[in-house]
Amino acid sequence: MKPLILAPLRGFTDAVFRNAFQRHFQGIDEAVAPFVTSIKGRRIKPSHLQDLAPDENDGMPVVPQILSNHPDEFICLANTLFDMGYREINWNLGCPYPMVAKKMRGSGLLPHADIIDRMLEKILCQFAGNLSVKTRLGRFSADEIEPLFAVFNRYPLSRVIVHPRTGVQMYAGNVDLRAFASCLACIDHPVVYNGDINDLAIFQTLKSLFPAVSGWMLGRGLVANPFLAEMIQGGTRHICHGKARFAKFHEALVDGYGHRFCGSGHVLDRMKGFWRYFADGFEDGRQILKRVRKTSSLERYRDVVAMVLDGQNRWGDQSETPENGYPLPAVNPDGRFFG
Ligand SMILES: Cc1cc2nc3c(=O)[nH]c(=O)nc-3n(C[C@H](O)[C@H](O)[C@H](O)COP(=O)(O)O)c2cc1C
Repeated sequence: MKPLILAPLRGFTDAVFRNAFQRHFQGIDEAVAPFVTSIKGRRIKPSHLQDLAPDENDGMPVVPQILSNHPDEFICLANTLFDMGYREINWNLGCPYPMVAKKMRGSGLLPHADIIDRMLEKILCQFAGNLSVKTRLGRFSADEIEPLFAVFNRYPLSRVIVHPRTGVQMYAGNVDLRAFASCLACIDHPVVYNGDINDLAIFQTLKSLFPAVSGWMLGRGLVANPFLAEMIQGGTRHICHGKARFAKFHEALVDGYGHRFCGSGHVLDRMKGFWRYFADGFEDGRQILKRVRKTSSLERYRDVVAMVLDGQNRWGDQSETPENGYPLPAVNPDGRFFG
């Protein structure tokens, strides 16, 4: 089985989430952490590295990620992380947010193969660890990746993680599987697939389409259904005691953020954010999401969640759904998902 990797989701898959996940679920082999931004003048802000403190990250193996368009700043931050014990650093070439991309960071660098080339050359001369990249297909169009194949192949990257969308697509619209197939064929490094692995059937379809990938990265689908990695590893959608295990995991998150943040308001905000994804796991998720979002104190939030988890709301582990009754996602001839 190829490794399953937890995707970086800023505001979600931080050390608190990773530790709670590791305690209550199985199936994830490693995580790429949400990005840390490099700052001018080769300065390091200790608060930016708090989430990567080694004593808070002794569960699953973690690869820190850097968002930067400046080689010296990148090297300074990467070497600091190396000194903290991290042997692989991932470079974010995918962040789609206009505020980031307009400043030629994240996916904003993808139309500039020459700048990426110069940065890789400089970084790899002065960074002793392994470097991987996480990329989209381009900022504006999927063919922006083509000149990057030769650039990536020129350097000893440890792997290339590809999310086959463009930056302007943000997180919506189809993943472009034909373009991903080109990445797999043209990149000489191990290639990891990332994007819309939301259930076992989609994973199995992708696995049969792309047997040559070196790993699979799971993001929103795993947050919505923390059993997903176990389902994939076990090849079954049957999960025992789903709601009870989810409840314990949820409690570990609330406790973890209680220790991390000053003030219950911050804990409440963070937990409400999670329900944007958790709600997908429940049959009546929209109603639950409304009720959770309306809560104005952590006590009330806990009461509402306890009612949801103790009550009759059916959690969508779908353990009673017959395995052979599950519809496979359709892939059309140009390699795009229909939906
Ligand atoms: C809220 C949110 C935060 C994200 N933060 C990061 C990040 O810090 N670094 C990164 O490379 N990608 C980030 N991503 C992109 C995800 O890692 C992933 O590439 C994307 O969600 C597609 O995978 P998925 O369909 O499995 O979620 C973020 C996505 C979301 C929705």
